[in-house]
Amino acid sequence: MPLSRHLPPLAAFPRSRPRRLRRTAWIRSLVAEHRLCSADLIQPLFVLEGSDRSEAVASMPGVQRFTIDRLLPVIERCCALGIPAVALFPVTPAERKSAGGEEACNPENLLCRAMRAIRKRFPEIGIVGDVALDPYTSHGQDGLVEEGRVLNDETLDVLVRQACCQAEAGCDVVAPSDMMDGRIGAIRAALDGNGHDETLILAYAAKYASAFYGPFRDAVGSGGALGRADKKTYQMDPANGEEAIREVAHDIAEGADMVMVKPGLPYLDVVRRVKEAFQVPTMAYQVSGEYAMIKAAGEKGWLDADACMLESLLAFKRAGADAILTYAALETAERLRS
Ligand code: PBG
Repeated sequence: MPLSRHLPPLAAFPRSRPRRLRRTAWIRSLVAEHRLCSADLIQPLFVLEGSDRSEAVASMPGVQRFTIDRLLPVIERCCALGIPAVALFPVTPAERKSAGGEEACNPENLLCRAMRAIRKRFPEIGIVGDVALDPYTSHGQDGLVEEGRVLNDETLDVLVRQACCQAEAGCDVVAPSDMMDGRIGAIRAALDGNGHDETLILAYAAKYASAFYGPFRDAVGSGGALGRADKKTYQMDPANGEEAIREVAHDIAEGADMVMVKPGLPYLDVVRRVKEAFQVPTMAYQVSGEYAMIKAAGEKGWLDADACMLESLLAFKRAGADAILTYAALETAERLRS
C-alpha cells in the first residue's frame, strides 16, 4: 500500500527505528496486520468409487483419494478443526466417461452420492461442488468438443444440468471451473427456476491456463485423457491481468456471489486487483502444483515445508483473499491450533 497522502513524512533514522516493532514476539503479534486461521480455509477432497478404500496421490504427498465411507471421518475432522467448507472432486471410473460427459448430470454419480452422504451426517459444513465436464469426458476437456473445438453454448446446457443436479444432492455452493462464456448467468437462472435460489455460486472467474494443475489432473485421472491437448481456448492467458478484471465483472453481473482467482501464489497481483476493484468475497486457490512444489522440496530437505506452507497461505490473506482453497487445509488447521 502506498503511504497515505495525508500522513506527515516519516521521522528519519535514528528517531525512527522500524525494528522496535519487531523486537519481541508480543509486539510482533500486536502489530500483525493479517492472521491466518482455520476459518479461512476450504479443504478440497478427491472422492473414489467403492468402499473402505483410499489411495495416495503420488504427485501430491500427503493427499489421498477416499471412498465415501472413508471420507466421512475426514469431514468430521474438518468440522472439529473449524474448517468451514470442503470442495469435492470425483475420480470417475473410465467406463463412466464419454465424449458428452453425460455422467456429470447423473443424480446417482459419485459426486452426488458423496454430497448426500456428507449432507446427512454433517449438516453444518459447507459443501462446494465443482461444475465442469473434465472429470467425466473421455477427452479430458471441460466442455463438449466438435472437430477439436470446445463448444461454448452447447456446453452451457450440460453445465446447467450438472449444477442443478449438485444443488439437488445437497451442495451449498456450485463452483463453475469450466470458463465457458455466459455460464454464471445460465446456471443462476436454472438454479432459481428449480427452487435453488439459496444455492451460492462461487465463480472460478479468473482461471488461467496453468501448468500448475498437473498433479490435480493425475489425482482425478483427467490428465491422461487430455494428453497433449491444452485448455488455452477457454482458460485465461497467464500474460493477462486486465482481462481478469473483465472476466470477474462479467461473472458478478451474471450473478456470482463469490469469485475466485486460480492458481494462487503466482497470481497474487490478480487477487489484489480483483479485491480492490470489486470488494466482493474473493477466494484464491492454492492449486495442486503449488502444493506439490512445497511438499517435494520439503521431502528433499531443501525447504521447511510447514513454515513455507504457512507463509504462503498468509501471503494470500495479505494480498486480499477472503478464503483459500488449499490441499493443506487440515494439516494447517491442526498446526494453527497447537
Ligand atoms: C477442473 C478443475 C481443475 C482444477 C480444479 N478444477 C483442472 C483443470 O482445469 O484442468 C485444478 C485444481 C488444482 O490444480 O489443484 N475444471
